[in-house]
Amino acid sequence: MGDQNTGSDEELGQTRQFAKHPHQQKPPAFHSWFQGLLMLCLLVFVVFLAFSDSTLSWSETLSIQKQYQRFFNKSKQGHTPAYLIHPKHRAFLNKMKENTLQTPEGLQHNTEPHTTQQQRLQYHEAYPHNYRFVMENAEVCKVNSPFLVLMVPVAPSNVAARDAIRATWGKDQVVQGKKLLTLFVLGLDKTHDVEKLQQENQQHNDLIQSNFLDTYLNLTIKTMVIMDWLATRCPAAAYAMKVDSDMFLNVDNLVIMLKKPGIPQKNYLTGMLMWNRPVVRSKNSKWYVPEEMYPEPQYPTYTLGMGYVFSNDLPAKFVDVSKSIKPFNIEDAYIGMCIKKLGLSPTSPPDPSQFKAYNSKYDRCEFSKVITYIIGSAENLKNFWADYKKPGPHC
Ligand SMILES: *[C@@H]1O[C@H](CO)[C@@H](O)[C@H](O)[C@H]1NC(C)=O
Ligand SMILES: *[C@@H]1O[C@H](CO)[C@@H](O)[C@H](O)[C@H]1NC(C)=O
Repeated sequence: MGDQNTGSDEELGQTRQFAKHPHQQKPPAFHSWFQGLLMLCLLVFVVFLAFSDSTLSWSETLSIQKQYQRFFNKSKQGHTPAYLIHPKHRAFLNKMKENTLQTPEGLQHNTEPHTTQQQRLQYHEAYPHNYRFVMENAEVCKVNSPFLVLMVPVAPSNVAARDAIRATWGKDQVVQGKKLLTLFVLGLDKTHDVEKLQQENQQHNDLIQSNFLDTYLNLTIKTMVIMDWLATRCPAAAYAMKVDSDMFLNVDNLVIMLKKPGIPQKNYLTGMLMWNRPVVRSKNSKWYVPEEMYPEPQYPTYTLGMGYVFSNDLPAKFVDVSKSIKPFNIEDAYIGMCIKKLGLSPTSPPDPSQFKAYNSKYDRCEFSKVITYIIGSAENLKNFWADYKKPGPHC
């Protein structure tokens, strides 16, 4: 996280505090008198509704009350001085208005009332329906009907990483008798060559691109776009994995693990489990999260972002539940929040030692036992893979 962003986050915090106490500002006397009268009318009306229609349950009455409250909140919002809204949010709200009015394909199934959507989206920039696909390869799952989909977030310009994966663990479309599909997920960046990317996609049909800005701080958006794509473009797959582009992935061992009899087909999320991880509050850390974004001192149990595997019923549930979870920049911990909110938790893999992060050096025997390893460079991946695939015993 750069200094620039840190600054704006502080600003954001102050703005939020401001916005929390709008009553400190004295409204003109007439204004409050009028509001009081309006409130009284609404109250009388709601009470009237509740008693006149005996078929209405208490919960229904409550929901009506909420709607009025929302209406009232909205009319109040209309008087909120513009400086109470952070510029970032303001820009975002404006964009949302456009999106909602245009209703592009990606937003079609979003039929909720305008007011709720605006209130929600002001704080929910990670919700994938805020964005639309630029490249979506909607047909690849129908043609292939995979057992497992490997979703690899990667920067648009990082062709080297994509090519290395296409030549190594992303190469085989059938592994241990099961169909696999490897796709790359990109946002937009200012420098990338649109034509080149289109050519690359024409050649491989494996790029998914959404129209958010592809930055480190936006990785949670990218993960939610992955979930949205899986839920809407590939619902028939059995499992999926989010796996980083700098990984060694032993796809054989992964499929063997997923074919084990005891592995759940629903509500299953596994990988390297992180328990009781403290939230990093040091501003110069890559993982810094300001308290305004995430107030708790610890994250719920989550699976490390380098590579986590899940049953493919979960993506739709994650997208749905993400509407009510404030986003922050740590994508794997955010998924931890989502699964917790669903009343579920990550499961330890059958053999936890198969999900490894850093290793000191390449070891042919070791690589034949694991599922993941972080290796860092495309060049290393190709070299290690070439050796790993040589005939002969691994150990
Ligand atoms: C309306 O605003 C109040 C605070 O001003 C808040 O407590 C309440 O939840 C809001 N109601 C709705 C329905 O958004
Ligand atoms: C994240 O993406 C949004 C949408 O493209 C963009 O407006 C915003 O600046 C990005 N945020 C960061 C921190 O890169």
